[in-house]
Amino acid sequence: MRQILVTSALPYANGHIHIGHLVEYLQTDIWVRFQKLRGNRCIYICADDTHGTAIMIRARDEGIGEEELIAEMQQAHIRDFAGFDIEFDNYGSTHSQENRELCAEIWASKREAGLISVQEVTQLYDVEAGTFLADRFVRGTCPFCKLANQYGDSCDNGHHYGPVDLIDPVSTLSGTTPEIRTAKHLFVNIERLHGFLDEWTQSGNHLQPEIANYLKGHFLHEPLRDWDVSRPAPYFGFEIPDSPGNYWYVWFDAPIGYMASTKQWCDRHGEDFDQWWRSDKTEIHHFIGKDITYFHTLFWPAMLKTSGFSLPEKVHIHGFLTVNGEKMSKSKGTFVRASTYLEHLDPAYLRYYYAAKLTNRVDDIDLNLDEFVAKVNSDMVGNVVNLASRTAKFAARTGLSDVYPDDGGLFEQAAKGGDAIAEAYEACDYGRAIRQILVAGDRANQFVEHNAPWNLAKDPEQADRLRDVCTVGLNLFRQLAVYLAPVLPRLARQTGELLGRPIARWDESKTPVLGTSVGKFRHMMKRVDRQCVDATVAASTKAEPAGPQSAPGAPEDSDEPLKVEPLTETCTFDEFTKVDLRIARVVAAEDVPEASKLLKLTLSLGGEHRRTVLAGIKGVYQPADLIGRLVVCAANLAPRKMKFGTSEGMILASGPGGKEIFMLSVDKGARPGQRVH
Ligand code: 2FM
Repeated sequence: MRQILVTSALPYANGHIHIGHLVEYLQTDIWVRFQKLRGNRCIYICADDTHGTAIMIRARDEGIGEEELIAEMQQAHIRDFAGFDIEFDNYGSTHSQENRELCAEIWASKREAGLISVQEVTQLYDVEAGTFLADRFVRGTCPFCKLANQYGDSCDNGHHYGPVDLIDPVSTLSGTTPEIRTAKHLFVNIERLHGFLDEWTQSGNHLQPEIANYLKGHFLHEPLRDWDVSRPAPYFGFEIPDSPGNYWYVWFDAPIGYMASTKQWCDRHGEDFDQWWRSDKTEIHHFIGKDITYFHTLFWPAMLKTSGFSLPEKVHIHGFLTVNGEKMSKSKGTFVRASTYLEHLDPAYLRYYYAAKLTNRVDDIDLNLDEFVAKVNSDMVGNVVNLASRTAKFAARTGLSDVYPDDGGLFEQAAKGGDAIAEAYEACDYGRAIRQILVAGDRANQFVEHNAPWNLAKDPEQADRLRDVCTVGLNLFRQLAVYLAPVLPRLARQTGELLGRPIARWDESKTPVLGTSVGKFRHMMKRVDRQCVDATVAASTKAEPAGPQSAPGAPEDSDEPLKVEPLTETCTFDEFTKVDLRIARVVAAEDVPEASKLLKLTLSLGGEHRRTVLAGIKGVYQPADLIGRLVVCAANLAPRKMKFGTSEGMILASGPGGKEIFMLSVDKGARPGQRVH
């Protein structure tokens, strides 16, 4: 029996769980359930990741304390995960006493090893908000390509820089121009562990080959830069005991949260923490997304190594989720929260679909909504569950035969196939496991089809034969339920109830259930109703209903707190009415090929009135989608000569820019030329 500790990345406490997150938590939950079913001792540990500037700002915005905010979010996360049958052995928080103590211990070991240095860091400081600005909280013009309205770390054209390099930076917290200030930060010298990291990452045992190559090509080929692990106050986190006024950066304490959450589990179960984190007895497996590879494969092993804790046996890295081939999008309704999904659809559908798509590679996985409906309906309802529904109702009358009937070797064949399926689960290649299960399902269905129990049931003289056919059909079905138990725990439970024997071990696929009564058959899985999928999408759509009124370039994650720009000074009513705002219809729209952001729109303002407007919305709106749409236009702006032509007005839109531009929509019934008051 192996002893295995498994973690998923700790979700941030500043946003809700969505279907993108669920790829990882389902992938991990399936692996953990598989290990438990195989008889291994396995615990699944997770927690909320609660520290950092984003939480501090969000709490400030909402007018509540950080601790209140993170407590509410933790409850919501726990509820959402439970709704998808994701079963943690402990779900903690990085804002816990256990974590504070473990951080201090690991920190002390770094100090002792002489790995910590103090360095001056120049950062942008928002005087009004009273805080240094993380990269995401500052916008300005790219110093390389001069693209306006870009974040503090990189621009939309792919240039990388520091926030202090931005031209005309503006704080998104207060809308003011930040100052440049220096502060002392604490750094960990990772380069001292370069040799160890080379060996650990390239050993072929702990990482997928593409990840090992990526690390070699991107980081390990040159000296590793010191890692900045502190932030000056104000910061929501743990103050560094030997450096008052400085806090551990969220990425320092987050992975230590894996340990802290394990510690809570150990304390609850009378277990020795050292047996889990300081012993060869335990295999540690981390499941993470590809975006946080660097932290888990370089920093984290380096932290563990110098503190004498166990290193991960494996870091399993998955790709991102796309929906219908694109990034999840709020405007398209494909940015679906876990809770919204659960209001409309059975969690088993998504568990199955993701499992069928997951491999052990780092590729992105696509949730294609048409395929989702078709696949669940044909594979699960039409193949697997169909076996039970076509035999169980007859078997409820007859019970199961005492001796396993001749089935032409089907049970034996499926029992033998269990090893290959187990190998695929172990390797995280769930797609392969599912394909093999479905092949066994096809064979079983052919048996039932061929023996047609519904015909046997009409002839009383065929009662024994009917019982034998149902015994075979239900046992072949039960084998599938065992193999699918990591993916579909509810189906396994229902199968156990139906046949009076719970599914608790993988090896139960090797022995048929015989001589027992069969319970009343209850539907195990309904077909996916396409309308429920559409309702989920509709409920997730934040913009106007679909059609030309929707904004295609909406933010991909607007759980980010919105910072309200300071309001401008009062204007008089007369001043306001000087701006002639009109409803206008886009009658033509075309690209301005030489300009990176401009589209040329021809607007009809009713009657003969036309305006040509150069609008900075390229890449966010497609010209073809705009034709026919109603917009609001500032119609009496003096024409403005621009590099690519003259713009005779402006259309009204909101948003910080970049991909986040939202044109104002006009309700049905309004007509071009009408004045907007
Ligand atoms: O990327 C994230 O969502 C982080 N909250 C993951 C942290 S994982 C671990 F290190 F705690």
